[in-house]
Amino acid sequence: MCGISAIASHKLVSHKLLMTLQNLEYRGYDSCGMALFNDNKITLRKNIGTVDEVNSLERFEGMEGTLGIAHTRWATHGGVTKENSHPHFSNNEEFVIVHNGIISNYQQIQSNLKDKGYRFYSETDTEVFSNLLEEEYSKTKDVETAFCDAIEKLEGSFAIAMITIHQPDTIFAVKKDSPLVIGINDGVNYVSSDINAFISETRDTIILDDYDYVLIKNDDYEIKNLKTRQKVSKQIVQVQWDRQTAQMGGFSHYMLKEIFDQPMTVRNALNIPAAQIESIAEKFITRKQSFCVGVGTTYYVAMVGTYLFSEYADLYVPSISADEYPSLIPCSHDDHVLFFSQSGETYDTRMAIRAAKSKGAATSAVVNVVGSSISQEVDDCIFQGSGPEICVVSTKAAVSQIIILWQIALEVGVLRNKLSRKAADSFKDKFNEFSETIERVLNEESGNIRNLAKETSHIANWLFMGKGIYYPIALESALKMKEVTYLHAEGLPAGFLKHGTLAMVDENMYSLFFLPFKDDSDLYKSTLMSIEEVKARNGKVIGFCSEEDHEISKLLDHALYIPRGNPELTPLIQLIIAQLFSYYSALNLGLNIDKPRNLAKSVTVG
Ligand code: AGP
Ligand code: GLU
Repeated sequence: MCGISAIASHKLVSHKLLMTLQNLEYRGYDSCGMALFNDNKITLRKNIGTVDEVNSLERFEGMEGTLGIAHTRWATHGGVTKENSHPHFSNNEEFVIVHNGIISNYQQIQSNLKDKGYRFYSETDTEVFSNLLEEEYSKTKDVETAFCDAIEKLEGSFAIAMITIHQPDTIFAVKKDSPLVIGINDGVNYVSSDINAFISETRDTIILDDYDYVLIKNDDYEIKNLKTRQKVSKQIVQVQWDRQTAQMGGFSHYMLKEIFDQPMTVRNALNIPAAQIESIAEKFITRKQSFCVGVGTTYYVAMVGTYLFSEYADLYVPSISADEYPSLIPCSHDDHVLFFSQSGETYDTRMAIRAAKSKGAATSAVVNVVGSSISQEVDDCIFQGSGPEICVVSTKAAVSQIIILWQIALEVGVLRNKLSRKAADSFKDKFNEFSETIERVLNEESGNIRNLAKETSHIANWLFMGKGIYYPIALESALKMKEVTYLHAEGLPAGFLKHGTLAMVDENMYSLFFLPFKDDSDLYKSTLMSIEEVKARNGKVIGFCSEEDHEISKLLDHALYIPRGNPELTPLIQLIIAQLFSYYSALNLGLNIDKPRNLAKSVTVG
């Protein structure tokens, strides 16, 4: 959510720190700041606004020093104000810190420190740590001991970086339940919330585990364990993502680029080694019951899974939203839970994993970010290989997760003797054509979708509806629409409409129907009935159909045409078209598509 960056160099670092802050912007934030050690003291500048705005106000680049920390904040405790922005000084200004996460016992620490005479200038949970450091240092006069002793008093989640005048060549950093990685280069070393911060400078990375703390100098680093305070050795990973992959590649927004990345990311998802698919599929057989869990978009991915397991394996696999999971914990030690997360850092999903593990259930996950917390917390993990997803709104990651789920469901179908190996293999062949179909749809249909979005972008209220597997597709598409256009888009099962929501339908309400091909006749017929219900109340209807489907096209106010292709994969094609429709609608409204208001890419707090 927020971003941490720290650099130790043999040269001046402010311009590099600024660049890392810019590279972390995609994570979502409301304010930012920087602190550098120079000439026996620490200078600190911070303010609310974008990195560029704060830089022009505070002139980060004018700050001198070869060692510094920086931060983009996404407020959890205290409003969006200059005082609450990070970094935070200790009272004597000898220690300065940046923090990502939530210190859950901050009130208690704060009141102890207030009793000792410390003053607090912000409303954040973070500021207690800088003063705690000052307090601990006064006891031992040793920075490392003070750092570790202070950290041990914290509860909650944190990634923290700190510099001090008492050891001015070293950055101290630590992590628990919030991400932190190290980047290593010649004469300059980095600590950051993620690899994107420094990928243009180095690919040599170390991914830290919970309770690791690090001492970083410009030509050296030491990783230690907080509990033993002994050195630990960690492997240097060569990150494969290149700078270009993480950049926009000629598209006007990351969202558009990432939608157009999908033929490639679908291919990557199809190239996941069979053994990995089988390993998770076996858990659906050996365990008494399985569940699919995610939150936001990944919850809708999980819901798609429920329909796929029913279709191909004749198995009921309930899907549950991760934020509600701890209230239910429906699993036991005989069961298995499959989690989905693009970032691998989502707090709600991590808490759901914890809850499932507390019952002894087996856990597995499909995750995009290598080295992320979730990937390390589950028993079994598939990395989907979609590359960095920079836009706050998830597109390519979700479609790839569905493709992986599809492969798992087919394998479970084979293992349960509900599907022949031959049928499963022939399905995989259809998948191979699928990435070409996506390419074609994107290239041929984006003009029509763009025109339709232009005509309808003034519509304030939408219903997105589908039946069967098209229902979670409608839900995910409505979420996309809400996220980027801020318009009211409600997703619901088409059959549910007449049980209440129909009351809202009049000539101002637009309904978007996710409609199967005629071949899928039961679903088709019942969706058609819902369309008739809307038309009878003068509601406007947009629907997906093939060009030859004259019966449906005469009912629709606007048709979105989809190629005949493989009917089973039609829901995914429709999801991709709906992604584009949301994108172009937001473009017409002139909104901040890649960073919608109030949202963050990686929601690492509960
Ligand atoms: C997707 O567009 C949303 N921004 C959000 O719902 C997201 O899918 C959710 O927060 C889960 O994130 P994750 O996949 O990184 O765990
Ligand atoms: N909890 C801290 C704050 O509100 C840090 C939030 C963040 O992760 O950006 O300042």
